[in-house]
Amino acid sequence: MKKIIVKLKENSYPIFIGKNILSNKKLYLAIKEKKIALITNNKIKALHFKNLKNNILKKENIILPDGEKYKNQESITKIHNYLLKNNFSRDSALIAFGGGVIGDITGFAASTYQRGIKFIQIPTTLLAMVDSSVGGKTGINHTLGKNMIGSFHQPSAVIADTEILKTLSERQFNAGMAEVVKYGIIKDKIFFKWILKEHENIKNLNTESIIKIIKKSCQIKADIVALDEKEKNIRALLNLGHTFGHAIENNLGYGKWLHGEAIACGFLIAADISIQKKIMTNTEYEEIKKILKIFKLPIKLPKNINLEKLYKTMLLDKKVKNNKIVFVLPKNIGSAYITNEIKKSMVMKALKNHAQ
Ligand SMILES: NC(=O)c1ccc[n+]([C@@H]2O[C@H](COP(=O)([O-])OP(=O)(O)OC[C@H]3O[C@@H](n4cnc5c(N)ncnc54)[C@H](O)[C@@H]3O)[C@@H](O)[C@H]2O)c1
Repeated sequence: MKKIIVKLKENSYPIFIGKNILSNKKLYLAIKEKKIALITNNKIKALHFKNLKNNILKKENIILPDGEKYKNQESITKIHNYLLKNNFSRDSALIAFGGGVIGDITGFAASTYQRGIKFIQIPTTLLAMVDSSVGGKTGINHTLGKNMIGSFHQPSAVIADTEILKTLSERQFNAGMAEVVKYGIIKDKIFFKWILKEHENIKNLNTESIIKIIKKSCQIKADIVALDEKEKNIRALLNLGHTFGHAIENNLGYGKWLHGEAIACGFLIAADISIQKKIMTNTEYEEIKKILKIFKLPIKLPKNINLEKLYKTMLLDKKVKNNKIVFVLPKNIGSAYITNEIKKSMVMKALKNHAQ
């Protein structure tokens, strides 16, 4: 088993990564609270509850319906109602057992219940293991926008059990790989090359390879979050591909492409701008494309998407200031920077180069 610490002074917490570790009671020492509720969804309950040998996880359960569309106020109310009706005091805790949706909902419910109670993340998708369970961003969607209501609330521990990934669909796994590849592009060329070399083992869910990708990804995210917890500056590097990705998801209709698929295409559009600015080589662009193809991630925009509309959606992003869009651009594989000085003509050229 591997352990990483997210260093945030009094909010520091461990991330445990290993095979069949959910029953290890020592990993739950961060919560000493007697009353604990586990939040999950009906799908994960059906797949994984029978394997939970640990009593902590079996205490009290709140089962939500499966899907992004339930990442809303109604689910928060359902959780809070349960906690109030069952006498959960400030000395109680929650456990999120699920993908990013369950993690974000549980974290937000924990941060708002009686001004904040503890919670533990047990991520069950690759995306949640390498990204959403770490860093303390919690929240729900509003009818007027995704992730619009939320808070920063760090978990007390994260427990990533690689065995859980065996039931995940290939498409969901590959969408998680987009975030893993992202860490290589923004911070670690050696890791990027290693993923290329090791891709067969990764696809076959070889335990050592999977532990390594989760550990490396969490370490890179933890280091960035430790420097900039509330995204005042460099945490924004984690948004590589996201300006384009969010616009794609929005224009296509949420759910058609998975988030990881949309940002993957965004990496290439961002890299295209870097080539136009002569800060990245074609060879590096081709390497990114190669890795995305390996994990069956999109390298072109969706068919018939309107490029002008896509640009307009980017202007509506919550990070836009004075009509200037903030972009994260790769400098080369292994480093990236943040800029709001990119001309519309360059963005449109990069979009056209990726239209079908
Ligand atoms: N808080 C953050 O920092 C952060 C970062 C990135 C993404 N997110 C959020 O995460 C969400 C996406 O997370 P996700 O991709 O994990 O989606 P998800 O939670 O919807 O899970 C995807 C699907 O896989 C199923 N599933 C989960 N674990 C499984 C398993 N082990 N076996 C089989 N099926 C399983 C789920 O029930 C669901 O149907 C979005 O809402 C996004 O906004 C948050």
